[in-house]
Amino acid sequence: MIGKLPPALAMVAALAPFALASQRDWTGSAACGSCHPAELAAWQITPHAMTRSRFAARPEARCLACHGTGEAPAGRAIAVEVGCEACHGAGAAYAEDDLMRDRPVALALGMLDLSTPKLRAASCMQCHTRATRGKPFDPTAPVHPVSKVHP
Ligand code: HEC
Ligand code: HEC
Ligand code: HEC
Ligand code: HEC
Repeated sequence: MIGKLPPALAMVAALAPFALASQRDWTGSAACGSCHPAELAAWQITPHAMTRSRFAARPEARCLACHGTGEAPAGRAIAVEVGCEACHGAGAAYAEDDLMRDRPVALALGMLDLSTPKLRAASCMQCHTRATRGKPFDPTAPVHPVSKVHP
């Protein structure tokens, strides 16, 4: 369905779960990592996890829209990092063992579907809106390369 929308609307549709989640819906990367230690360890050494070091003080809300996880710029960021939930969706409702084993249920509770190149690219492009540093952005770049999903 998102695939049939014009790009601007598809972006809005992709962002909708973030816009609708309230502050209590976020659980934080450490909570995700308690059950996904390999992904946590792989992610912790990426620029996404370490972006806090770019800023001397807490960044402005407009920066936290991309350098943070949560509701910025409209609301509060829960962390100065591109955390698990910045890509996978606010997780308090789905981050339980029995729910996560049932993929349709987890998706219904707010986990974002990143399984196709198009869905994945839409997620990345919330923040990677244009090429920087003179090189094109690659939405297939590994983000926490621990499994067969990421070459
Ligand atoms: C209480 C343990 C637990 C917590 C906390 C947890 N998960 Fe999971 N997660 C699981 C289990 C179990 C699976 C299913 C693994 C399987 O089927 O092989 C899973 C699967 C997943 C998958 C793969 C889903 C799929 O079908 O492709 C993703 C992505 C994921 N979790 C992300 C997260 C994120 C992000 C968080 C934090 C918001 C989180 N998990 C918190 C236990 C947990
Ligand atoms: C639309 C999303 C977005 C917003 C808003 C944003 N950034 Fe970034 N920023 C990025 C991305 C994506 C990168 C990584 C680019 C890359 O590696 O090619 C980045 C990289 C950076 C870097 C690394 C240095 C560099 O140029 O590579 C700094 C510093 C930075 N941003 C500061 C800021 C500040 C300060 C603000 C607020 C005024 C801000 N950013 C707002 C997405 C954003
Ligand atoms: C920059 C975006 C991004 C971030 C940040 C991120 N992930 Fe992922 N994650 C992905 C993508 C994309 C996939 C592949 C999804 C697919 O192909 O279905 C994935 C896959 C997964 C899977 C499925 C198994 C695997 O390893 O491929 C789990 C579990 C998972 N992520 C957990 C986490 C946890 C826990 C964190 C935080 C410590 C995290 N992710 C941070 C984008 C991200
Ligand atoms: C919430 C915003 C956000 C999302 C979503 C996001 N990123 Fe990023 N990404 C950033 C920011 C900000 C940086 C720069 C961090 C820094 O260097 O301080 C970055 C950096 C990167 C880098 C390192 C670039 C370099 O030159 O070192 C890669 C690779 C990357 N992102 C890939 C992805 C992929 C692939 C996805 C989608 C699966 C994705 N990102 C989703 C915000 C995001």
